[in-house]
Amino acid sequence: MAGGFVSQTPGVRNYNYKLTPKVFVTCFIGAFGGLIFGYDLGISGGVTQMEPFLEEFFPDVHRKMKSAHQNEYCRFDSQLLTLFTSSLYLAALVSSLFASTITRVFGRKWSMFLGGFTFFIGSAFNGFAQNIAMLLIGRILLGFGVGFANQSVPVYLSEMAPPNLRGAFNNGFQVAIIFGIVVATIINYFTAQLKGNIGWRISLGLACVPAMMIMIGALILPDTPNSLIERGFTDKAKQMLQSIRGTNEVDEEFQDLVDASEESKQVKHPWKNILLPRYRPQLIITCFIPFFQQLTGINVITFYAPVLFQTLGFGSKASLLSAMVTGIIELLCTFVSVFTVDRFGRRVLFLQGGIQMLISQIAIGVMIGVKFGTVGTGDIGKTDANLIVALICIYVAGFAWSWGPLGWLVPSEISPLEIRSAAQATNVAVNMFFTFLVAQLFLTMLCHMKFGLFFFFAVFVFIMTIFIYLMLPETKNVPIEEMNRVWKAHWFWGRFIPDEAVGVSAAEMQQKSV
Ligand code: BGC
Repeated sequence: MAGGFVSQTPGVRNYNYKLTPKVFVTCFIGAFGGLIFGYDLGISGGVTQMEPFLEEFFPDVHRKMKSAHQNEYCRFDSQLLTLFTSSLYLAALVSSLFASTITRVFGRKWSMFLGGFTFFIGSAFNGFAQNIAMLLIGRILLGFGVGFANQSVPVYLSEMAPPNLRGAFNNGFQVAIIFGIVVATIINYFTAQLKGNIGWRISLGLACVPAMMIMIGALILPDTPNSLIERGFTDKAKQMLQSIRGTNEVDEEFQDLVDASEESKQVKHPWKNILLPRYRPQLIITCFIPFFQQLTGINVITFYAPVLFQTLGFGSKASLLSAMVTGIIELLCTFVSVFTVDRFGRRVLFLQGGIQMLISQIAIGVMIGVKFGTVGTGDIGKTDANLIVALICIYVAGFAWSWGPLGWLVPSEISPLEIRSAAQATNVAVNMFFTFLVAQLFLTMLCHMKFGLFFFFAVFVFIMTIFIYLMLPETKNVPIEEMNRVWKAHWFWGRFIPDEAVGVSAAEMQQKSV
């Protein structure tokens, strides 16, 4: 049977802690880390639509945008312009790999701090940019910031949260991402109406606000018990665990953390070890989840919603407004995941969200195909345009409670301590690489594949839904340092996990799972 159905994995302890104010406030502040990523995701699409910005840095695109009305699909196709958006993600990819060492050796909070700091400098370069070099240097620094934050924050949240609420807490990261996107779109909506260069400067420069929030947040945050133990501060770790769990009865969980740390000490090179057969399930899932998350096509909407809406014949103000609406819907729908992920589990949300995205994508492709055909000319009526916007909202809602938050949650919770930092860095690197690729190629793909682009992403959504159904075990409520048992009980992955990794004999395991 597809082993993902195992909801109560044999041998897994259930701690069932209450929610304490301390863990709530800590995770709330920790989740700020998502703001810088979100702000950036939301700001670039709008800025690259501002005429003064294009005139200043991309005069060719500006000329083309003004004149090319013959083919709607190709109006904004420019590699240089997309490089502005996507360069950040390459930088984030590189920095996430360094971040893994800092996160492991110095603790999660210092990676967060560094993330905020480099993002802050990047925002200054961008806000005051005088030439394209300053603009690109700024983007690269922002990228470094995002890499550090995305590597450390999801792990921080997953380790701090009580196991039975880990999904909800970790989803705070995605809520912050979307909040950042929405704020950025609203800012763009207003700054786009300002004359001259001041508009885009404000939009890009205001990135310093979320940067300061994460910097200050990181300074006041405590480190996770897991990380304290990993770095030898065992007593401090126990006090921390007691204070975040709000009880002195933490011996069992504490012992699990200590055991996990002991085991992890035998692993000297996380990057080499992650390649060992016993970590194959985690490695494969850690690579596939971010790959699939980006192949949902979500960032076509995130980056290019204003462009897409203009392509559909909306005016530039209406386009920004529609982008704002989809952002707000995404934010609201992310809360569906926050409130259900620990009750219904990760798999149900992945599967339901996947089916919803699949249907809406096919419908969008058909509608755009019928209206613009393959030539890319034609007019779309108001009703049809509104229908497409509605379908886009349904698609975004599906993503918001599935692949969006779970794309960050699942990779951060499935790996044992000894490879967790490296695994999370892999997750960020793969995510950033495909974010880069989609950002870089989307406008060209739209130009060449036309409405077929939506079918292209739909095929991937179909494949990833099957993948989840067969390959992802349920991880809700499972204590993070007990995850090996989940893998061991899975119909396919079980063969990779040695018996000693779960402390139970194989026979016992088999007997329990029958
Ligand atoms: C994804 C981003 C996406 C964002 C908003 C995140 O989970 O990683 O690529 O832009 O959600 O939709």
